[in-house]
Amino acid sequence: MKPFTPKDKDSHPTLIHPPYKSSNLRSPSKNSIIVPQTITELTGPQFDASALGELDNDLTRNGRKTGEPLGERLIVTGRVLEENGKPIPNTMVEVWQANAAGRYIDLDDQHEAPLDPNFLGAGRMITDKNGEYRFLTLRPGAYPWGNHYNAWRPSHIHFSVIGPNMMTRLVTQMYFDGDPLLKYDPIYQGPPDEARKRLVADFSLDDTEEGYALAYRWDIVIRGHKATPADA
Ligand SMILES: [Fe+2]
Repeated sequence: MKPFTPKDKDSHPTLIHPPYKSSNLRSPSKNSIIVPQTITELTGPQFDASALGELDNDLTRNGRKTGEPLGERLIVTGRVLEENGKPIPNTMVEVWQANAAGRYIDLDDQHEAPLDPNFLGAGRMITDKNGEYRFLTLRPGAYPWGNHYNAWRPSHIHFSVIGPNMMTRLVTQMYFDGDPLLKYDPIYQGPPDEARKRLVADFSLDDTEEGYALAYRWDIVIRGHKATPADA
């Protein structure tokens, strides 16, 4: 049983990133300690596609009540990779996001933008034998978040990826190439220069569906010097 590789320090934001206000309050005030890894942590969880619902990877359908949700349909796809570029099959990828107007279904979200009765904004899938994931969704809207004057989050999709075992779980956010809000966003700006570019998905004409949806491609690397940065 192989212990997981420690996180690459040059790939991730520091735990306290002053421009991101809440990181100042919730970050640990003491140095971390090493805790021995247990067998349970290093061998699981194991996933089986039979645990998934038929619509779990289709956010355009899994929350419908009265009709279709509103917004620009997107396919988001890519691979989950180990540090050496080896694909990670059969691992759980979970996603959550705002609707096309920039509003979450979460009761704590009081942004004055409309909820969409037909959009849940959450889904999940398991990577295939090539480490590929793929889901259908709507392009999320930007939303204000009060971190500083006139602060707006760029469009983003939240991801949780488990990887080979629970100790490699990565929680992060995917952004869209060309978004003008990226340069003003302290969460996106948290990781070191080179690493933060790994958070941006590329438009992919090859993955679009004729007459139905545009597509973005985003690979997720869970460890090593090319690691996808975690949330701050
Ligand atoms: Fe968000």
